[in-house]
Amino acid sequence: MEPHIPLRIPLKVRKRLDTLAKRTTGPMPVSEFRRLVVEGRLVNAPLDGYSDPAWRTICLRHGATLCYTEMIPAIALVFGASDAMRRLRRADGESILAVQIEGAKPDIMVEAARIAVNAGADIIDINAGCPSQRVTNSGAGSALLSDLELLHEIARAVKGAVDVPVSMKVRSGPTQSNIVVDEISAMVNDLDLAAVTIHPRTRNQAYRGKADWSLIARMKSSCRIPVIGNGDIRSPADALRMMETTGCDAVMIARGAIGNPWLFSQTRACLAGQEAPAPVNRQEWERTVWDHFNLFLDYLDGFEGIAARLFRKHLARYTRGMTGATEFRRGLPHINDRAGLRMALERLLAAGEEAGGFVFPMPRPDDTF
Ligand SMILES: Cc1cc2nc3c(=O)[nH]c(=O)nc-3n(C[C@H](O)[C@H](O)[C@H](O)COP(=O)(O)O)c2cc1C
Repeated sequence: MEPHIPLRIPLKVRKRLDTLAKRTTGPMPVSEFRRLVVEGRLVNAPLDGYSDPAWRTICLRHGATLCYTEMIPAIALVFGASDAMRRLRRADGESILAVQIEGAKPDIMVEAARIAVNAGADIIDINAGCPSQRVTNSGAGSALLSDLELLHEIARAVKGAVDVPVSMKVRSGPTQSNIVVDEISAMVNDLDLAAVTIHPRTRNQAYRGKADWSLIARMKSSCRIPVIGNGDIRSPADALRMMETTGCDAVMIARGAIGNPWLFSQTRACLAGQEAPAPVNRQEWERTVWDHFNLFLDYLDGFEGIAARLFRKHLARYTRGMTGATEFRRGLPHINDRAGLRMALERLLAAGEEAGGFVFPMPRPDDTF
């Protein structure tokens, strides 16, 4: 499907994505994946509850060149849980299906990786960063940063079990006094993983404080594989600054893009040398919100009520800082179907017009979830 706006994705990257989409046999070579990371530069993050195929399509259309699925519990894949299997679906327009799995048992992770690859995954990513108790209680996610031997064992076993590239996403360590960036570098170099993403907050920090970008630079200086930097990118200027100050090969954006996929297109424009990206206009905004909703409805097999209710969290983000947003948010619990969504959007947009015209604020207001 054609993107709506000029993306300025470098031609060589477009060609690579095209070739990958058309390939019929064999896994993607690691070298090809790495080239795509390094040349594509803009990665959409795994975000539990958000990075479903609908959201990934929207991000791809806005200029992300690689999107990770939300984390999938390995054990759920092994048991064939329907929600986990649904998360393996390829998004519309997705040349590379990058599946993130989460778990702490090497044999279960291996089995889950095989299931994902059989279902079409082109990349497997190992989650060693999630701080939520639901994940860390079983020793998975960022808990693995306190047991690097186990993390090494998991990564080695998964890499040995599948023939697709394997990447890893980490935080900087369990605590501020136990930063394990150097150890992770040594591990991913030793295993020759396809790429590593670092979100430089510690497990203890969760989402508090600031991401310490100097640790991205530190990882980059000792890694022989591509390093994807992540954390606190809210504007195109942030993305460029992270690339410049850390030397990372690509940047990954998570919260900043939710409700604002234009962060990708505008960063893409900046990377192409354009100084001030055009503001988002009403037509583009409406089209994106509706495209997103329609894709989401497809993903949920047409169950409109469920889609409308689950889509409310995206609506809250799409409308942040806009005129009439407070009123709109109050009405969110009453959006139960397409008609309700249409009415609510019409009211919001009318309030904007009355106040002098549509304005989508960039940069966005603060981004806590
Ligand atoms: C609601 C939510 C869900 C997340 N889910 C995942 C996940 O499934 N896998 C993962 O590796 N990280 C997950 N993360 C972490 C993000 O991918 C990212 O590392 C973090 O938000 C920092 O980047 P940002 O400042 O661009 O948001 C999640 C974060 C949030 C806020």
